[in-house]
Amino acid sequence: MKGFCDMKEITQIKGDFFGKDIITLDQFSSSDIQFLFHHVGQYQEIADTNTLSKTLAGYIITLLFYEPSSRTFGSFCSAAQRLGAGIIPVQNPQAVSSVSKGESLEDTIRTFASYSDAIVIRSKEAGTAQKAADATYIPVLNAGDGGASNPTQGLLDLYTIYQSVKRLDNLTVVATGDILHSRTIHSLIQGLSLFAKNTIYLLSPKELRLSKEDYKKFSGNGIVIKEIFDADQIPTHAHVWYWNRIQKERFATQKEAEKYTNRFVLTKELLHKYGNKNLMIMDPLPRVGEIDEAVDQDPRAYYFKQMRNGLYVRMTLFSLILKRL
Ligand code: CP
Repeated sequence: MKGFCDMKEITQIKGDFFGKDIITLDQFSSSDIQFLFHHVGQYQEIADTNTLSKTLAGYIITLLFYEPSSRTFGSFCSAAQRLGAGIIPVQNPQAVSSVSKGESLEDTIRTFASYSDAIVIRSKEAGTAQKAADATYIPVLNAGDGGASNPTQGLLDLYTIYQSVKRLDNLTVVATGDILHSRTIHSLIQGLSLFAKNTIYLLSPKELRLSKEDYKKFSGNGIVIKEIFDADQIPTHAHVWYWNRIQKERFATQKEAEKYTNRFVLTKELLHKYGNKNLMIMDPLPRVGEIDEAVDQDPRAYYFKQMRNGLYVRMTLFSLILKRL
């Protein structure tokens, strides 16, 4: 590892997670993901049996969340503590830390790096996690940077698919909602691109399709991207439906966001019309109307299992990054 305050380059994982930042799924290869998933079971066992693990005893992890969160914050806190690490939980640093006095991101990172061994950061602006990583020598994990990416969500989403379908290639996925702003969909596309012969249908209002820049970037990676703008175009052979809310916090006004809210609601009727018996229904959550609660009882609904998987995958990541297994 480099010295205090040295600049870091964001490096490829290449089979070794130790000391690395997690900024984007571009750092991963398919074998890195398989290596990670190979270890998840042992952490699931620790969590599901309430075993007192000392894997990270003596370590402290800072959770610096400039944007609200339930799942990502909760699961990272839980993951650290289930492994015996202490936490410095900073939700809304704009109100509760010296950020409120005007301290810069870089100085804030240097401060918490003085007291902890890794920093998990969620931020409003794309590129902030990278800036944070450049300001410190300790590992930084991107818990969502604006509308750009949410790599650990991408990993837990892939893990959830892998658990059920037993492979990550030759898949057809339908992702729906605010494709333009959904960092979880961006990370899902990047993750699926690491495996062969995947196709993703992106169903959205035309105004919320991928930006031209993202379309070019993502479609250059081997995945087939098909943009559709009507529910009638949902293919009936999909393996996964990945529904996601309109990201209202990314719009200039609430009124603008409301124009698109619940344009494509997943109901039992839609499922009956276009779903198949092996379909997985996923949603990174929070749910704000995009999936009818009547669907929760359907055995194809995986979104709560997906949420729990976030704990196991984040426990595994902390262990691999902070300790050489
Ligand atoms: N999936 C997700 O990022 O949820 P939170 O915003 O609650 O963390």
